[in-house]
This record gives sequence, structure tokens and C-alpha cells, in this order.
Amino acid sequence: MKCVDDFRLKLGRHELVPIIIGGMGVDISTADLALEGARLGGIGHISDAMAPTVADRRYKTHFVKEKLKQYKYNVKNADKSAVQFDLGRLEEATRLHVSRTMEAKRGEGMIFINCMEKLTMNAPRETLRVRLNAALDAGIDGITLSAGLHLGSFALIEDHPRFRDAKLGIIVSSLRALQLFLRKNARLNRLPDFVVVEGPLAGGHLGFSMDWAKYDLHVIMAEIYQYLQAEQLAIPLIAAGGVFTGSDAVTFLENGAAAVQVATRFTVTHECGLPEKVMQEYYKASEADIEVNTISPTGYPMRMLKNCPAIGSGIQPNCEAFGYLLDGAGNCAYVTAYNREVALHPDVKKISVKDKTCLCTHMRNFDCWTCGHYTYRLKDTTRRLPDGSYQVLSAEHVFHDYQFSVDQKIALPR
Ligand SMILES: Cc1cc2nc3c(=O)[nH]c(=O)nc-3n(C[C@H](O)[C@H](O)[C@H](O)COP(=O)(O)O)c2cc1C
Repeated sequence: MKCVDDFRLKLGRHELVPIIIGGMGVDISTADLALEGARLGGIGHISDAMAPTVADRRYKTHFVKEKLKQYKYNVKNADKSAVQFDLGRLEEATRLHVSRTMEAKRGEGMIFINCMEKLTMNAPRETLRVRLNAALDAGIDGITLSAGLHLGSFALIEDHPRFRDAKLGIIVSSLRALQLFLRKNARLNRLPDFVVVEGPLAGGHLGFSMDWAKYDLHVIMAEIYQYLQAEQLAIPLIAAGGVFTGSDAVTFLENGAAAVQVATRFTVTHECGLPEKVMQEYYKASEADIEVNTISPTGYPMRMLKNCPAIGSGIQPNCEAFGYLLDGAGNCAYVTAYNREVALHPDVKKISVKDKTCLCTHMRNFDCWTCGHYTYRLKDTTRRLPDGSYQVLSAEHVFHDYQFSVDQKIALPR
């Protein structure tokens, strides 16, 4: 009976354990978690979501305070179009986050950064260009393009000296999205080095509509695999979303996947950025406690725990400090929803906004408990402690369980 360790992911001259810890913004997949993935011979991801905020928390910089100070005059204004990111400061924050992580890297594995196109930051092209180039400057091993079609993203870095040497890949949820990406980038003569195929059971934003349950990762993987074979395109495919055990991973690896990308099982590890109290909520969750909803202002459905504080919260938008979801015209669906509620309830002090959430603030504060579909199985991966809480795991333990387990077994911690 095979285990994940019987396979290797080949990326250029690198031979890796075919386990990739997926990017989880905002600093849920911390540098510490990514570093463990690399140390153990696989790939770990940091996320570039809200890098200035993350740098402030980790490295005692003041990016957020400075931005808020500059735009404080606008806090009560419904129109957020004036609130812009300083590109120089954004570059500095990204470089800091990436370079500090890369300096700490040990072992044979790699560290990638997850870059979401939907973080439009009131100037989509300009800010994404800065984020991608700064990550390459700071020595990141690879970039995973996510949350968007990224039709123009390769072009934003085509002049970077590392454009052909860094590992660049994209997350897709359908063959059509991949075909579009390949067609739009054909003139660059640079294929992605890997393609993550993310199915409907993943955490975070989903690349599906609310009919996500009709889709099956195995089917999408097979479609894309056959297409690449027919086109003679040797791009490693990585299966993501609902790969909960080493045996689940082996099934994909035996059917053409070059690796798996996993995240949910790492949300209850010491290295993960979630506060321990939130990890206990993940452990406690039953299947009925998890929903896919449309409250993210990005327009993508998102999976989360129903009891998380982000749902129904009516906090004042924080765009002057954050503003990562403002589109190119300075709009965010939460700001619109919030202003509507304020206009409808002028005398109410604490309003509730049901249809959208202030994702920047709630992700920043770990109050939006996004999670994978199988979060309700996490309790089966650990032990119950005498006080009734669940034991938090080490990333090494979870990584090794994926790497060596067979027969759908899950190793419990000591
Ligand atoms: C808490 C959490 C946050 C996530 N955040 C992001 C993100 O910021 N960007 C992204 O591309 N994917 C994100 N994902 C998706 C993961 O990177 C990964 O592809 C997917 O969850 C794998 O499925 P699994 O969680 O069932 O193992 C997130 C997943 C989780 C569980």
C-alpha cells in the first residue's frame, strides 16, 4: 500500500515531498508554518494579503498607523475613492515580510507566496505589480496566483530578472479558467510551473458559485489532466480542497496529480496564526456549523463557521487603515451595504449588516473563521485534554501524518 512519501514533486531541479501547505490570509499561514513546510521537504506558503498589517504585527513597523493618519479626515465619508496605498510603503512591507521569511528558511523545501488578485486595493494593476515584483526582489521561491483569473498578472512581472527562474503557478477551479489563462499569456512564452486545481471543499474563497456542491475535484482534475496530456503540456497539477488524509492524497497522486495542497488540517497547529481560542472553535465544529455564504465583498462565495463574529457585524468600514478590497473606483460591497443600513436606521447606534462583511477588519482580527469543508473532522485528528479542550498539534506532526499514513489512518499526537 502506497503512502505520499513514495511520490516526489519535481519542480525544475527540485525534488520535493509532494505536500504543499496552502496560503491562508491574513497571516493564518504564518511564516512559521511555511518554514515548517519547507524544512520538512515540501512547500509552505506565506500570504501577501494585508502585508503592511502583518509586518506591523510581526516587525513593529507602523504602516497602518501612517495610512490611517494620512486619511483620517475621510473616516466618516461614504466615498472612499481618495484612499490610496502608497506604492513605496507597500513595496517596503512586502519586501520585509518576504525577506525575513526567506532568511529564516532551512531545509530542502520551498516557500511560495499566495497573491490574491481580488485584493484590488483601489488601484488593481499598480498594487499587484508592486506586490509581485517586491516578492521576487525579496527572494521568494515561487508565487501562487489566486482568487482571480490573473489574465494580466504574468505581464506585470515579465521584465523582472527572476521571471523565468522563480516558480510561478496559478490556482484554477475549472478547465475553462486554465485555458483562458494559457491563451492570454501565450505571447509571453512562459508556461506556469504548476497549476493548483482547487475543488469546492476548500477553505477561503471558492472559485465556484453557490452551486459548488455539484462539483467534484476528482472530475475537474481528470478533465484538466486529459487536456494537458492532449496538448502535450507537462505542467505539474496539484489537487486541493478536501484532501484530509494521506490516503486521500495518494488517490490523487496515483491519478496524475504531482502533489496535493492542503490547509484545513494545519489550522489547528501551533505554527498557524489563528489564536488558540479560535482553533478550539474549529475543533468543536460539527458539519452543521459550517456554511458557504456570500458575505465576502469580493463577490466569491466563502466557507466559514456560522458562529464567527464577522457574520452580521455592522462595524464602521476601516478603509482608511486597510482598504484592501476597494476596487479601482474606490468601491467595496461592504461599504455600500453599511451605508445603506445606516441610511435605513439613522437612530440605531449599533447596526447589523447581514449581506456583506468588513472582510479586511475581520480577517485582520481573526474574527472571520473561514475554514475547509472537513473542519468538522479535525476533532478526530487529536486528543481531548482533561479540561475538555482539544490538543493543538505541531505542523510537523500533521505534515508527517500526510506523508506516511496509509489506509485512511490518522495518527494521534502523543
Ligand atoms: C483558514 C483558511 C484560509 C484560506 N485562505 C486562503 C487565501 O487567503 N488564499 C487562497 O488562495 N486560498 C486560501 N485558502 C485555501 C487553501 O490555501 C487551500 O487551497 C485549501 O483550503 C485546501 O483544502 P483543505 O483546506 O481542505 O486542505 C484558505 C484555506 C483555509 C482553511
